[in-house]
Amino acid sequence: MTNAADPAIVVVTVRPDPGGLTRLFASGVPSLVVTDPGAALAALATKSADLVLVEAWPGLDAPALIRALRLKPHLAHTSILLIAEGNLAEGNLAEGDPAEARRRGLEAGATDVVLPPFDTSDLALRGRNLIALARAQDAVESQARALTREVERAAAESQEREREIIRRLMLAAEFRDDQAGDHLTRVAGCVLAIADGLGLSEEEGNDIALASTMHDIGKIGVADSILRKPGPLTEPERYEMMQHALRGYRMLHDSPSRLLRLAAEIALTHHERWDGAGYPQGLKGTEIPLPGRITAVADVFDALISARVYKPGWPLERARRFLEEQSGAHFDPDCVAAFLSRWDDVVALVEERPADRAA
Ligand SMILES: [Fe+2]
Ligand SMILES: [Fe+2]
Repeated sequence: MTNAADPAIVVVTVRPDPGGLTRLFASGVPSLVVTDPGAALAALATKSADLVLVEAWPGLDAPALIRALRLKPHLAHTSILLIAEGNLAEGNLAEGDPAEARRRGLEAGATDVVLPPFDTSDLALRGRNLIALARAQDAVESQARALTREVERAAAESQEREREIIRRLMLAAEFRDDQAGDHLTRVAGCVLAIADGLGLSEEEGNDIALASTMHDIGKIGVADSILRKPGPLTEPERYEMMQHALRGYRMLHDSPSRLLRLAAEIALTHHERWDGAGYPQGLKGTEIPLPGRITAVADVFDALISARVYKPGWPLERARRFLEEQSGAHFDPDCVAAFLSRWDDVVALVEERPADRAA
């Protein structure tokens, strides 16, 4: 990629007038003539060029110079024209074998090799073509970079919009549910702590945490008389309540959004139990998808420390003991261990956003 300040042509030659070549096709084109390979490498250390002309002369290791130039990423598309003149034939490059000289030049990274005898106007045309080629390649590449940036910007914007909509949706669901306050925020925080303890990537943790906020979205379909009932539920009411897992799944599972499909999986599986005694499918152990196993620990923990219409919130230590007791029964032991390994974070989170403890 050349900048306005970069020379279009860099000529590496020992001759005072490099065969009239620069004049031939560089008139009006900014060019730089250097007389040794070190100067060429220094001149092109940071600057780029559209065309580098290397005139081989006795004593110059032209292939080595070309290879050194090609190692510079900013010269990747620069056309390098090796002009062998008579010197290659004198044994410097190929001991008189023009085909071998050509092969070695191209192998070193030259775009083209010009061998004697050559026609100067033909050479000028080739040079112009190579400059045009380098510029076209640069243009295509910078266009591709601009497009990539644009696509990335649009993707980030749509991802942010998706997250924003999910947060709004959860606000709506929270108004509906009796689990007021920061239940979903704390569940998401606990999910993050467990994901971190399990060694999941930050991105995976963030996705599961955001998706976990939709675990009870299916409760939108449960009647208020059941959802807010202060006493124990009758059997049919309990059955109705349990439908929220499947309803949440149905609401979300066929979304084109990966996050919503993850949320569907969590909605469906957050009441499954490690020992197989959960619902709705009675899945067991690792049959339960990991995001569901993680959310189960986070959700139950927060439900325990929060007050419900039928119970006060438990002290944190009591809830912790419950998780330990249920490790391997209700919960995936790895998720419980991961949660306990981040216990200080959990305590800090609950202190920052305390659960309502009074019944
Ligand atoms: Fe639930
Ligand atoms: Fe919940």
